[in-house]
Amino acid sequence: MGVSGGIAAYKAALLVRELMRRGHEVRVVMTEAATRFVGPITFTGLTGAPPVVDLWDARYAGEVHVELAEWADAMVVAPATAHTMARAAGGIANDALTATLLCFDGPVVFAPAMHTRMWKHPATARNVAQLRADGAAFVGPTEGPLASGDVGLGRMAEPDVIAAAVEASVRSDLAGFTVLVSAGGTHEDLDPVRFLGNRSTGKMGYALAERAAARGAHAVLVSGPTSLATPSGVERIDVRSALEMEAAILERRGSVDAIVMAAAVADYRPAELATDKLKKTDGPRSLELVRNPDILAGLGAWREGSHPVLVGFALETQDVVPNARAKLARKRVDLVVANHATDAFGKSTNRVTLVAADSETALPELDKRDVADAILDWVRARLPAS
Ligand SMILES: Cc1cc2nc3c(=O)[nH]c(=O)nc-3n(C[C@H](O)[C@H](O)[C@H](O)COP(=O)(O)O)c2cc1C
Repeated sequence: MGVSGGIAAYKAALLVRELMRRGHEVRVVMTEAATRFVGPITFTGLTGAPPVVDLWDARYAGEVHVELAEWADAMVVAPATAHTMARAAGGIANDALTATLLCFDGPVVFAPAMHTRMWKHPATARNVAQLRADGAAFVGPTEGPLASGDVGLGRMAEPDVIAAAVEASVRSDLAGFTVLVSAGGTHEDLDPVRFLGNRSTGKMGYALAERAAARGAHAVLVSGPTSLATPSGVERIDVRSALEMEAAILERRGSVDAIVMAAAVADYRPAELATDKLKKTDGPRSLELVRNPDILAGLGAWREGSHPVLVGFALETQDVVPNARAKLARKRVDLVVANHATDAFGKSTNRVTLVAADSETALPELDKRDVADAILDWVRARLPAS
């Protein structure tokens, strides 16, 4: 556990206790600034080992950051200051905490705490985005009274919430299973330079693949065109059109345990693909479209029994849940994740309802990774005990 120099450092002691209460062994690394907020001896008393503060401390034999990074199963930085996150995002390793972070290749959770303006500053937002892209998880900050007397976003999450996030980061409940996720929109070509597309960004599918891999699954991501980076540990297959996506999925469907169809697959494609760029003409022009295969319904019809577990998405602009329930029956899938178009596109959060034959669970607005975890929890419960 890393403790950096913010007011919330006093709550780090409670987090140590909470992690120990849950049966974990804890060792603490503090920044120099953190020692001004809370005495190292507090952590010595709680953990039985003096916290590491100084990389150059002669008491440590050899490289203490390497030793700590090899010892730990997970790292949590709580509180995480703007300064320490900036250093971590930049790969700077100028003290024991940041050197250990750079040496550590397991799951990392940051629990930021700072004044609202520091949290909202573009530099902090950039660093948080970079750390997320590097695979780190975040918990908080939450809204409430701040040490400055202001009220706003910036409070460190509560110790039990952080402890749960640390435990979630080391979960391997999908180990041994293969999860196929489709993501993004499709591009249906009209001519060499034009296509019909949609506004899906792929974020939900990428979050699903990322979380599946983080939970130990072999995650296969069949992705339409997108600008997103491949999440770590994910096997990515790039496709362009609905037909290419169908071919990639049919090739793999027999060897997977679950399929989550988060892609926004075009229902139609142009009847003809022009080999040359279409010229403009005077007056209106019409375009003939033909139906694309319904990949999800095809999987539902192919499947015997309930293997692989099949999850579809329903993006609607009206009657969201009734439409999802109709889709569930019509396409013979196990779960339909229903969302409203205005809640879903391009954002990093989503508000969905999980609709199954015998249940309906409305989730609050959550980060897409947390939505992914809720979907994967549902899927995991339908897979055999490993
Ligand atoms: C009283 C006081 C409270 C502070 N609280 C915070 C805080 O909550 N969050 C934060 O990011 N920085 C806070 N800072 C600023 C950091 O202590 C400062 O950026 C420091 O360089 C952080 O070093 P570290 O990241 O190496 O621990 C505070 C500073 C002072 C003097």
